[in-house]
Formats: sequence, structure tokens, C-alpha cells
Amino acid sequence: MQPKAPKESKTILTDLVLPSETNPLNNLFGGELLARMDRAAGIAARRHSRRIVVTAAVNHVSFGKSVPLGSVVTIEAKVSRAFKSSMEVFIDVWIDDRESGLKSKANEAIYTFVAVDEAGSPVPVPPIQPETDLEQQRYDAALRRRQLSLVLAGKMKPKDATELKALFEE
Ligand SMILES: CC(C)(COP(=O)(O)OP(=O)(O)OC[C@H]1O[C@@H](n2cnc3c(N)ncnc32)[C@H](O)[C@@H]1OP(=O)(O)O)[C@@H](O)C(=O)NCCC(=O)NCCS
Repeated sequence: MQPKAPKESKTILTDLVLPSETNPLNNLFGGELLARMDRAAGIAARRHSRRIVVTAAVNHVSFGKSVPLGSVVTIEAKVSRAFKSSMEVFIDVWIDDRESGLKSKANEAIYTFVAVDEAGSPVPVPPIQPETDLEQQRYDAALRRRQLSLVLAGKMKPKDATELKALFEE
């Protein structure tokens, strides 16, 4: 299969934070952000693979900054690396400053999606060819994140997680 660039899967979701989506501190409820990120990442994985995709794992979420009621939230998702049937999707979350119009980074997350056929069996996806320095960094680190996720899910033995071991032995 021909490699594809991360930009080909780029997905941007912009929406407001409404009162029904907030916690008692009037900030965006974490589960609501997880759902929005899942949606954007799922579209990115589908754009990359042109297949049905399912969420296989949420590898990392960092709620670094709260997102106040009324904020305009922009979620940007791109496939950072593809393996055989699985794809790592990197998600960056930004909020607009109403007065300056500038965007500031609020959160980021990494999800894994798997492309499947109509019966739900995994199918192959095209590889990723990174183009920018950031895309290359995310691509390189994706292998150890995959190993960590598989070890935590009980699908890989820690002794086989070579990239992870190398990280701790540095
Ligand atoms: C995800 C799913 C398709 C994997 O199917 P499976 O029969 O376990 O298939 P495999 O073990 O061959 O895994 C398929 C791929 O998923 C990857 N994978 C599976 N679990 C993973 C995890 N926890 N973290 C990262 N990758 C994972 C495997 O590494 C493999 O990747 P590769 O083909 O690129 O090498 C299956 O578990 C499933 O359908 N889960 C439910 C998905 C769903 O409903 N999501 C919404 C939740 S509400």
C-alpha cells in the first residue's frame, strides 16, 4: 500500500462549551472532551484507512488546562503512525481567546484505532510517511507507546517490549 502523509487524515472539530457539558466549576466535563476527541480521531483514522474504524485504546490523555464554559474549543486530530491494522492518532486541543483571537493549547491525547471489515476483523492500512519534524518525532515515539499499551492490555509480554526496555536502559 502507498504511504500517506499525516496531513491527509487531518481533522478539525470546532465547537462551543455549553452549560450542559460542564462540571460544578463551570469547566468542560472531562468525559465530554474524551467523546469529542474520540469523534475527531475516529474521523482521522477513517480518512487515513478509508475503512470502518473502532477505538482500540486511549493511550494517553492530559487535561493540562481547564476549558471554561462558553469557550470555543478546536480539536485537531491526525494519524501519527500506522502499523498493520492499527493507527495511532495524535490529538491537540486548543481554545480561542475571545479578545485577542489567539489560540492556546489546552490538552492533548493519543488514541489507537483499528481498521476492520464488515465482520469486525482487522484489515491492513497504508503506512504513514511523516513530513515535518513534529510528525517525525510523534512517528518515532509511537512504537514504544504501542508496546506500552499492548503490555498494559496483557497482549504483549514485557520482555518483548524492546523499545520500552531501551527507554528505561538509556
Ligand atoms: C480493537 C479490536 C478490533 C482488536 O481486535 P483483536 O481481535 O484483538 O485483533 P488483534 O489482536 O489482531 O489486534 C489488531 C490490532 O489492534 C492492535 N491492538 C489491539 N489492542 C490494542 C491496545 N490495547 N493498544 C494498542 N493496540 C492494540 C494490535 O496491536 C493489532 O495491531 P496491528 O494489526 O497494527 O499489529 C477488537 O478488540 C475490538 O473490536 N474491540 C472493540 C472495539 C470497540 O468497540 N471500540 C469502541 C469501544 S466502546
